Amino acid sequence: MSYTRILGTGAYLPEKILTNHDLEKIVETTDEWIVNRTGIRERRIAGKDDTASTMAYHAAQQALAAANLTANDIDLIIVSTGMPDNLFPSTACLLQKHLGISTIPAFDIQAACAGFIYAMSIADHYIRGGGAERVLIVGSEVMSKLVDWTDRKTCVLFGDGAGAAVLGKSDVPGIISTHIHADGRHEELLYAPNYLANPEVAVESSVVNMQGSSVFKFAVNTLSRAVTEILAANNMDKSEIDWLVPHQANFRIIDRMAKQLQLPMSQVIVTLDELGNTSSASIPMALDRAVRDGRIQPGQTLLLEGFGGGFVWGSALIKY
Ligand code: ACO
Repeated sequence: MSYTRILGTGAYLPEKILTNHDLEKIVETTDEWIVNRTGIRERRIAGKDDTASTMAYHAAQQALAAANLTANDIDLIIVSTGMPDNLFPSTACLLQKHLGISTIPAFDIQAACAGFIYAMSIADHYIRGGGAERVLIVGSEVMSKLVDWTDRKTCVLFGDGAGAAVLGKSDVPGIISTHIHADGRHEELLYAPNYLANPEVAVESSVVNMQGSSVFKFAVNTLSRAVTEILAANNMDKSEIDWLVPHQANFRIIDRMAKQLQLPMSQVIVTLDELGNTSSASIPMALDRAVRDGRIQPGQTLLLEGFGGGFVWGSALIKY
């Protein structure tokens, strides 16, 4: 029987830090409102040379080094991004070029903030099905280019960055199961239109549009069901979870998930305060941070979960 294990993780954080106090000078908001409603204190903003593919490259290099592998050892690349460098070629193809390798398959997926879980699920199926042995998966996001900097309801929420993981074939369980879902009926609650595809959309309107409180309610209910689903599917009890590694959208959502699992916040990986919502980069960046600082240890059980525009959501249960 073959399984998939996480062989290495990596992350890239742009240098520029934008604090809530900086935002007070841009839109009508306060540090107090942002901290109370979201938990975010600051976020990173991509520099002029940071694109989805360059940030993915830096995160991938770290993940490969952590796995003790080189790019030549990889046989599939999957990149999740909502802000690709080009409409085509894919960001995964550009990452392949930056890594100096060729001919292995490389493709992008688009599943908003659940993108990393989607990528992990696809990679796990490839590996367990024998289609690949080592897969590089990356979430890389330039959310600062996808928000309207005059809209206080959205611009205070997001940040930029990339997170990566190398997944490999294993004889012992690593990824126990992944569960991904979508419900495309709620486009109007969270979307970013593409002006190139729709002449009625002005360039400046091709930004994140979100009805925050409706999304909040849907996210809490859906993630709650996702947690119940993944535990039941594996006949596991919440007491067996060592770490919750959630998508970082809102501290209040994360807190609800922790309470449902009866986990103290000391067993939840939170980067939201420093990094904001980095969409599909948030889970791998949180994972990488906790692996590198030694909180996550081999043999421990991790629950990853994410929710985003689509709506899309997913979870992964992992023996690290
Ligand atoms: N500063 C000050 N006031 C603000 C700000 C701000 N930055 N933003 C909104 N407000 C005001 C609103 O105008 C509103 O004022 P009003 O009552 O006079 O109209 C009031 O604050 C309350 O606004 P709400 O939107 O109802 O605030 P809420 O408590 O719901 O918090 C938030 C908003 C943080 C966006 C929350 O709803 C949330 O986190 N939603 C879920 C986000 C999420 O999970 N997204 C999914 C992933 S993202 C992706 O897929 C790309």
